[in-house]
Amino acid sequence: MSVAVYPGTFDPITYGHIDVAERAAKVFSDLIILVMNNPGKSNAMFSVEERVSLIQNVFSNISNICVASYRGLLVDYARLTGHNVIIRGLRAVSDFEYEMTMAAANRRMYDSFETFFLMTDTKYSFISSSLVKEIAINGGKIDPWVPESVKQEIYKKLEK
Ligand code: PNS
Repeated sequence: MSVAVYPGTFDPITYGHIDVAERAAKVFSDLIILVMNNPGKSNAMFSVEERVSLIQNVFSNISNICVASYRGLLVDYARLTGHNVIIRGLRAVSDFEYEMTMAAANRRMYDSFETFFLMTDTKYSFISSSLVKEIAINGGKIDPWVPESVKQEIYKKLEK
């Protein structure tokens, strides 16, 4: 049994995240998508509970993907659960510095911690949750980047 954890903010989940998760779920026997808070992204559109629910809905037909949330350090989650293999997606070289720093810091805090990187499919290499929200807020179409269920929830937030 090899379990991997795919942590992120997922505010909201995009096709870029979905691509990484589906591919990781083919390599590992189980994948836990872990919704967390990134202190650098303080103005979330969705609560952690809403993000979990959106992701559960997206992966309802994939039996080896489950969704969880954790408030605190990723290394503490890893220690607590024993799941020390982490997946992160890399979209472009610009992601590398941040990811390298985070992987190194996590390993410094917990030496059993392993980070595996998957290159996001090039057709999603420029997508980010922030970009999707910005496009939606300004009236642009977001269909190419998020599933219908996620799009509807974004529009509901914007109506409020
Ligand atoms: O989707 P994101 O915003 O790139 O994900 C970043 C995330 C949530 C994985 C990162 O901010 C994180 O691990 N947050 C939990 C707190 C933590 O462990 N921070 C130290 C990272 S070295």
